[in-house]
Amino acid sequence: MMNTNVEATLNKQINAEEHASRLYFAMGVWCDRNGFAGSAKYLYAHAEEERMHMIKLVHYINERGGTALTESLPKPQNNWDSILDVFKNVLAHEEMVTGMINNLYEVCLNEKDYLTSNFLQWYIQEQVEEESGAREILDKLTLAGNSPGGLFHFDKDMAALAAAQASPSI
Ligand code: FEO
Repeated sequence: MMNTNVEATLNKQINAEEHASRLYFAMGVWCDRNGFAGSAKYLYAHAEEERMHMIKLVHYINERGGTALTESLPKPQNNWDSILDVFKNVLAHEEMVTGMINNLYEVCLNEKDYLTSNFLQWYIQEQVEEESGAREILDKLTLAGNSPGGLFHFDKDMAALAAAQASPSI
């Protein structure tokens, strides 16, 4: 049997990862609409990655004999002021998710659920990478500024980054 508090907090995380997936998908759609095809590719891939984060949690709950829930989701934002605004929001969202993972880890420790805290190590490491990746993208965007040439190269870099991303494994 899973600890009910841990199970409920894991279910909240499932919902948050699925919401992140839809938010990044919506950001990808905005990028496509606004001439940033490379950034769109990157964000669509990122949306898939978030779905993988969700499914990994579902599998874990199932393996432990718990009940994974598919619950309703908030409507994601659909408009941003600029490409810089999009990626500032990616970083802010990742920081928020890191806070949730930290809280989840604390719940596990308080409930003495060491198996789940061990399972969460993967997510903790993943958040370090996701946040640093988002910061690198913001640095590149800051360098590009508002110059059309700079933004063109930024978007080409994003297409290359999307292509280089390993396909998510569940
Ligand atoms: Fe699943 Fe980007 O956090």
